[in-house]
Amino acid sequence: MYYEGGYLPFVNCEIRVRSRLPYLFNKFQVIQVLTILLDCGMMYGMNEIIINRTWAMPNKWTFKVKPIYELIIRYATDGVGWADPFAGQSNIAEYRNDLNPEHNQPYSMEAVEFMESLDVPLQGVIFDPPYSLTQVSRSYKDFGLNFKSKENPTGGFPKVKDEISRLVVVGGYVISFGWNTVGMGKGRGFDIVEILIVSHGGNRNDTLCTVEKKP
Ligand SMILES: C[S@@+](CC[C@H](N)C(=O)[O-])C[C@H]1O[C@@H](n2cnc3c(N)ncnc32)[C@H](O)[C@@H]1O
Repeated sequence: MYYEGGYLPFVNCEIRVRSRLPYLFNKFQVIQVLTILLDCGMMYGMNEIIINRTWAMPNKWTFKVKPIYELIIRYATDGVGWADPFAGQSNIAEYRNDLNPEHNQPYSMEAVEFMESLDVPLQGVIFDPPYSLTQVSRSYKDFGLNFKSKENPTGGFPKVKDEISRLVVVGGYVISFGWNTVGMGKGRGFDIVEILIVSHGGNRNDTLCTVEKKP
């Protein structure tokens, strides 16, 4: 954070404060007050989130976008102990599944059934489902399936998330992709540690990559 050239190292995003406070206090007093407020926020459960934005060409296969691939590898390294229930054509995670058998993953089940079938502690999960109702319908129509599984595919796959929450170890990560940063959420006991915004130019939606940790 910058305040008239001041720098607070524990906040990643740049915020320029343009207020009337300088007329009441000098800039060092303002920085002190902001520091105390931020410290209080952290004590009461706010955690530091790294937020970055970059640009990259879009790709139908999310993980072929370079900055996205690099983000995943930074957390998942060799993918051992990681699961990917919507793997598409990716082979990063050790435990992989995709509904479409043409993607040649070890399993081609409904994501929720795949996660229910796992009974191993997971170091992390890559969560990259279809991002919209249109993408969901396309996935199902491709295989002539109806929306009659246990999961509600249009509601953010909550049952898949519940299974992920069951299996991820304390200290483990979930990296979610989509057009929002909902992720696993506080309700399932996860904290956001990093968000990467990938802009693709034109009027395309950004890809939002949300990294959460089970503390
Ligand atoms: C956004 S793509 C994932 C792409 C992958 N991350 C990659 O970069 O190669 C979503 C994938 O989920 C699969 N899918 C859609 N509905 C599914 C479901 N209910 N269960 C499992 N896989 C599903 C689709 O076949 C598609 O490959």
